[in-house]
Amino acid sequence: MTFNRNRAAIDVLDKRLRTAASRLLPLAEGYGQHDPQTLKLLFANDAERSAQFSLTVDELHLDYSKSLIDSTALAALVELAEACGMQGAIGALLRGAKINPSEGRAALHTSLRSPLAANAPHAALVGETLTSMREFVDSVHSGTWTGYDGRAIETIINLGIGGSDLGPAMVVDALADFALETPDVHFVSNVDPAHLTRTLAELDPATTLFVVASKTFGTLETLTNARSARDWLIAASDEAAVARHFVAVSANVAAACEFGIEQSNIFPLWDWVGGRFSLWSAIGLPIALAIGFKAFDELLAGAHAMDTHFETAPLQENLPVMSALLAYWYREYGASPSTAVVPYSQDLGLFPAYLQQLYMESLGKSISREGAVLTQRTSEIIWGSAGTNGQHSYFQQLHQGTEFTPVEFIAFATASVDSADERHRHLLANCLSQSMALMNGDEAGADVGEENWDPQKTIKGNRPSTTLLIKQLSPHNLGSLIALYEHKVFALSVLWNINAFDQWGVELGKRLSKDVYAALSEPARSSKSAQTASTLDESTRALVHKINSWRVPR
Ligand code: F6P
Repeated sequence: MTFNRNRAAIDVLDKRLRTAASRLLPLAEGYGQHDPQTLKLLFANDAERSAQFSLTVDELHLDYSKSLIDSTALAALVELAEACGMQGAIGALLRGAKINPSEGRAALHTSLRSPLAANAPHAALVGETLTSMREFVDSVHSGTWTGYDGRAIETIINLGIGGSDLGPAMVVDALADFALETPDVHFVSNVDPAHLTRTLAELDPATTLFVVASKTFGTLETLTNARSARDWLIAASDEAAVARHFVAVSANVAAACEFGIEQSNIFPLWDWVGGRFSLWSAIGLPIALAIGFKAFDELLAGAHAMDTHFETAPLQENLPVMSALLAYWYREYGASPSTAVVPYSQDLGLFPAYLQQLYMESLGKSISREGAVLTQRTSEIIWGSAGTNGQHSYFQQLHQGTEFTPVEFIAFATASVDSADERHRHLLANCLSQSMALMNGDEAGADVGEENWDPQKTIKGNRPSTTLLIKQLSPHNLGSLIALYEHKVFALSVLWNINAFDQWGVELGKRLSKDVYAALSEPARSSKSAQTASTLDESTRALVHKINSWRVPR
């Protein structure tokens, strides 16, 4: 399914946008020759710029006025979105069209958070699952669900990786202030034995419950950890205890049953939910266990509010679309290889890592929806960390590096903890001052006279950023924020005409690891080892040899 792309119009707009870019963007090859005053001029020429280049949706306010773009270029980008069939694509997404062509699937994460009355696709199935999730969560919170010695559950361990970990872990971390007294919720994802071992070290098997979260129930890291966790439990009790201490979330019920999880303890997942879009499904079970179902419903409602905005807002007032157009502008015309996402919120410390999978596993593609090799750059690298910490780490490069990196600041107007107003105002002051410094620079030479001008200390400025200000951190607003980025990613996939919902690139490494694992598992000089090693390239063979000569099995 193509999204009615108007190729002729796209080509015309591309030419208009290239002309605009030569006026507005510091081109990589000519960097340093550009006019460092561009952003300042844009403000000087338009007294209304700040208001014109801002959008408010509910309690989210995006100021994109410090972007290296003017209204002419922005209008051309909006026309480009229309020429790419953006409105049609949004409709196709929400109604469940098979918009994942390589797997022949829909992408209906929006159905997971639609009110049942909305009659979204699969509403009944989603409703039944939410009911069974709520019953389970209530049974753990009320203590009616007990472990093998009759005591209530005090600790939840989520065993999952990628979309079966990053989303739930980020939300639980962000909403720590909304967490209930019990249970404690931990996340184990890495097959590195240190991860599970260190997490289990202080825990009591009798009061610990595992959620095995795996859409395929075939992911090596998760299944290896699940087997080790099961051994840990059985060592303290017996096989019968597994039914009380393991539940699963999977689309592969047969494999979960074969692992030994009771069918009644398996929460369903469906092929129309992508892993990195799944925290709203039963993959979100650890979220509901941590913050309670009322707050989980508020998270869903916040995402649904953003879905409605995405579906109904005109493109030039559409938060996800306008965010996507700015990213496209810098990536296609400004050659910026990356974007920094810097939440000035310790609660959102895991948000950049979550966004990396959402963005780069969706948009890190080089083939079009129809199978043609793309002739343009696609996804930039997404990275970042909580501010103010970034200021003491990589902001030097953001201010004085040779290329500009667009920065997306995120901040909450209100602190998430009490009696913290002074510290919160320092946090906000740093956030705003960093975007000011990126834009205005510091004409160190200007006020000390030419003879004392010091190039080392001059910060040219003219570096773009956006600031997303959110009234306060709440489950509802966090749901809207996450959905905003989900839809931004989808809008970018429409602009680039790529499939945002498959991830074939991650399969090869998994397959190759089987041979390497075998080579690491056989006695160095056995004939089998020699045969396995022959399938490896020379570098990998040498590394395997080195490991085998150094590794001390523990
Ligand atoms: O990274 C590849 C991937 O398939 C992700 O898309 C997915 O979120 C993750 O692995 C885990 O997959 P599963 O939930 O099937 O274990």
